[in-house]
Amino acid sequence: MQPRPAVDVFHEWAQLGKDEGMERGHAASVGHMLDMILPKLPDGFSAIDLGCGNGWVVRKLKGLGAKNAQGIDGAPEMVSKAKSIDSVCQYHYGLLPEWKPEQKFDFVHSMEFLYYLKRPLEMLKSIHDEWLNDGGWLVAGVDHYLENPDSLNWPEHVGVHMTTLSIEQWKQGMIAAGFSKIKMTQVAGNDCFPGTLVMLGQV
Ligand SMILES: C[S@@+](CC[C@H](N)C(=O)[O-])C[C@H]1O[C@@H](n2cnc3c(N)ncnc32)[C@H](O)[C@@H]1O
Repeated sequence: MQPRPAVDVFHEWAQLGKDEGMERGHAASVGHMLDMILPKLPDGFSAIDLGCGNGWVVRKLKGLGAKNAQGIDGAPEMVSKAKSIDSVCQYHYGLLPEWKPEQKFDFVHSMEFLYYLKRPLEMLKSIHDEWLNDGGWLVAGVDHYLENPDSLNWPEHVGVHMTTLSIEQWKQGMIAAGFSKIKMTQVAGNDCFPGTLVMLGQV
């Protein structure tokens, strides 16, 4: 069967309320990611979450001191949900990598989004060049990667394209994008899960 666009699948997931399960499932990893990055960010930082789903991380960032917190997602129902929950932060509907921000940010966050793209390493370069202020930080987490064997059948199981890369390929992508102070780490793992692969880097 032909893979479906990921945003169509996630639009349906939002209609079925499965966005809330993702929020619970990703909370521990995102907690680690934010613990790593928050001490590095300036007071009143600006931030955007790519592939924000129902916007739960955007609202979290606002609560953690972001003056300007935004999210972007390509699933219409995810964005409507985000807007229905919160009228303070900005939630954009758009398809990445085509959609571009009107401003640059101190912090770009992304959890479980990048590998849905056909060319995720080009997105890293775009984040570096077009999304982040000088001195700004990217923190991105992925659970689908070569060293997580249980994730390798997800494309077939979910019926969407996923770009499968190794930890080293993601690291080389961060280097090629121009990031400095790169850190690659795995968080929130257990006996059956090697952890969310987190990549962190500064412009
Ligand atoms: C696995 S969900 C993660 C959602 C959220 N980050 C979370 O942790 O709950 C992936 C999200 O990326 C969005 N997405 C996938 N491909 C996209 C694209 N090309 N452009 C914009 N959003 C996309 C989906 O609509 C979905 O909401």
